[in-house]
Amino acid sequence: VQALRRLRNDPLGLFAEAAAQDTEVAAFRAAHLRVFLAVGADAIAHVTLANRDNYRKGVSYDALRIPIGDSLLTADGATAVSRRRLLGPLFTRRAVVDAIPTMAGAVEDCCTRWEQLAARDEPIELTAEMNRLAFDVVGRVLLGAELGAAMTRLGDRIDDASAWVARRTRAVVPLPPGLPTPANRAYRRAESEIRAFTEGVIAQRKDAAGDDMLSRLLAARHPDGTTLTDTEVRDEIIGFLMAGHQTMGALLAWTWQLLAAHPDARAGVEAAADNDEDEYIVQVLEETLRLYPPGWAFTRTPRRDDELGATSVPAGSIVVICAYANQRSPRFWEDPERFDPERFAPGATPPAAHHFFPFGAGPHACIGRHLALVEAKLAIAMLARRFRVVPLTAGPVAPQPGITLTPASSVGATVVRRE
Ligand code: HEM
Repeated sequence: VQALRRLRNDPLGLFAEAAAQDTEVAAFRAAHLRVFLAVGADAIAHVTLANRDNYRKGVSYDALRIPIGDSLLTADGATAVSRRRLLGPLFTRRAVVDAIPTMAGAVEDCCTRWEQLAARDEPIELTAEMNRLAFDVVGRVLLGAELGAAMTRLGDRIDDASAWVARRTRAVVPLPPGLPTPANRAYRRAESEIRAFTEGVIAQRKDAAGDDMLSRLLAARHPDGTTLTDTEVRDEIIGFLMAGHQTMGALLAWTWQLLAAHPDARAGVEAAADNDEDEYIVQVLEETLRLYPPGWAFTRTPRRDDELGATSVPAGSIVVICAYANQRSPRFWEDPERFDPERFAPGATPPAAHHFFPFGAGPHACIGRHLALVEAKLAIAMLARRFRVVPLTAGPVAPQPGITLTPASSVGATVVRRE
């Protein structure tokens, strides 16, 4: 009963304590659920790589299948392999570099908005503001730059759908989605609007391809020459919008909070931004991803009984791999609670794979990771060159483990023009 209560109310504390112990795999029993936390290098590599065919994406993905079906984010097995092969070329470093001017356009619009806010001394809510920027960037890269106000509305509906998915994922026994409860009806309306909008853009791009990921997705071919169906394309795009929105927003919001709490690091970022150098900004982003990984945990479920080292994990149980817990474990990090971008300095020893994995592990690791890092680097550099974010209260607020690790309460801040 206690494990169940802590799984529900304090999974970060529960998993962090377990990962601090000298154990490869920690086991919890929670009512009818058997939950295992894979902590050690061998256990994580076994689940995500060596024996991955025995694992499907687990309970943390069930609710996401409602909006996006079997898209890359939710798929496993043969579908996942062929999807990943098809989609990989859209997300290479090269492809991301080509998208920089599009991303910069969105950040530039944010700068214009901040000029006005700064002039009026009007505060922002940091998480909402960064979600808005993140959606604008990812939306333009995926769908094209000219959608304007329609994009803001799409972002709001994606937020509604994500919040509903997050609520269902938290519930241990989710209600079937068909019930006409007010929340389910609101979700269905958001889903229809998102789908109709995306289908509209797909129809336009089929008439005239643009310089966006959707156009490349429509042209992508499997080895046998076939393409994705329109519905598959639509669901992939919605999946990317959902995967790349609040994760990016959270990363940016945590970065500003940590910089405000650590003036030396802030000075370093501002100097780097002024001189067009990005090394130190990347160090700060990595250290932020260590302490506040937006994708804080993911689950897998064994198809057949398996052994993780000395621990038997039965078919149907839940295996959790928790970046937050490992990345703060005193077994793996010295003084783990301290924010220290020097951990990622060029001369420092890079962390082992199971000490630091904010983008996941193995062949299912985040396909958007280059995009995410380049986007974050660009946004922080362009904004820090001109502005300082000054939170109204000191220090980062506590993290809340939903699907994404976000600040638990609203973070008021002013944006101040740098002299
Ligand atoms: C800071 C930003 C981001 C973080 C922290 C993040 C984190 C993660 C993590 C931890 C996984 C692995 C999940 C698992 O193995 O179960 C993942 C997978 C994935 N991410 Fe991201 N992500 C970010 C941004 C993005 C963006 C921008 C996109 C797309 C535009 C994206 C698309 C995906 C997809 C499609 C998968 C599934 C890949 C597969 O299963 O092969 N992510 N992400």
